[in-house]
Amino acid sequence: MSGNKPSAWQDYLDAGLGFRNHWYPAFFSHEIKEADASSGNGEPVEHFRCMVILGERILFRRIDGQVYAIHDQCIHKGVPLSKRPECYTRETITCWYHGFTYDLKSGKLINIITDPQSALIGRHRIKTYPVKETHGLVFVFIGDGEPPALEADVPPGFLDEDLVMYPEGWAREVNCNWRLGAENGFDPAHAYMHRNSPLVRGFKVPTVLGDTGLGEDRGMDVVNGERENNGPCGVRLIRGAGTPLWQVEVASGRTISARYLPDEPGVMQGMIPEVGIWMPGVLRVDPFPAPHIVHFEWYVPVTERTHRYMISWGSKVRTEQEKKGFFDEMKYLWRDFVPQKFNNEDMFAREAMDEFYSVEDGWHRERLFGPDVLITAWRILCSNTNRGIQELPYGAQRATVK
Ligand code: FES
Ligand SMILES: [Fe+2]
Repeated sequence: MSGNKPSAWQDYLDAGLGFRNHWYPAFFSHEIKEADASSGNGEPVEHFRCMVILGERILFRRIDGQVYAIHDQCIHKGVPLSKRPECYTRETITCWYHGFTYDLKSGKLINIITDPQSALIGRHRIKTYPVKETHGLVFVFIGDGEPPALEADVPPGFLDEDLVMYPEGWAREVNCNWRLGAENGFDPAHAYMHRNSPLVRGFKVPTVLGDTGLGEDRGMDVVNGERENNGPCGVRLIRGAGTPLWQVEVASGRTISARYLPDEPGVMQGMIPEVGIWMPGVLRVDPFPAPHIVHFEWYVPVTERTHRYMISWGSKVRTEQEKKGFFDEMKYLWRDFVPQKFNNEDMFAREAMDEFYSVEDGWHRERLFGPDVLITAWRILCSNTNRGIQELPYGAQRATVK
């Protein structure tokens, strides 16, 4: 046991596949192109996108600008429609196996090519998912019933109208549970790992080795938006409230120091970011990687041992010229550099934790230390504010040890 009370965050421990009844990003907008003209004879078509989110296979199609999402599984014998999407019209999809044909907007079974008189027609449907598209992302609601406002499931400020997002975000599947992604992103002591990263070195970013002295009433701000106004729920790290470590003795007479101190000449200025982790698993770092850029990263559950890591960047620009400058800066400087020369270290750490947490019951065997108080606050907040636990369908066995 860690010395903490696991029961305080039991829902979090149960949420290997994520929290149900929340909004998650599925794609960047540009990744879902307008449905192409159908050949009319049911040949396989392009411009379908498929994604597994919280263990559910979902098919996305853009029709007249609007994105629609349906469960990617034929009701007849369960094959994924996306294995060979066939369309006789732009608004329908026909199962490649026996010809069950569905309306993409309503999910309704509207025809069966191999049994046109079937009594099933018009009586059944595939589940459809609510979709919202904003700020360069396509969000899908994984849940039941009427979805809440998207505002409650994104970090504060994300939906600001004057926040312009760079359209080409970055994404990759990472081989570990989504919770390890969220905890790594928000971990106040993991600055240590980043101290020699090419980003810190190349751009002279003063980066602390760690923050000590954090406590429940020191160094963090727990925001329970649900309770207050149906807004976002999250935990913020309050910079400067703890004791930053810039230099530490590692052996007698031997110290290591942060590579750059904030008052050194020539270091990057204005880089003391506010960091917050928000339900249902999204980090906001403001600013990063440069003083006028806000960095968002999502940890979207895919399976119990994989999550989709999506990064997008925004900036408050006032003119078209500023917007062009921001886009050029993203394109030529940060878009690939940040994930490949900084966040690659995070992905390395997350995947290194996978075995311990997935196979060796790390959730109960971990030994937490002082700075982890922020992480346990996040776990408790998740347990208090989630709208449901995602279960594996039909009694399938969980891969993780609980
Ligand atoms: S499995 Fe889809 S029509 Fe038979
Ligand atoms: Fe990191």
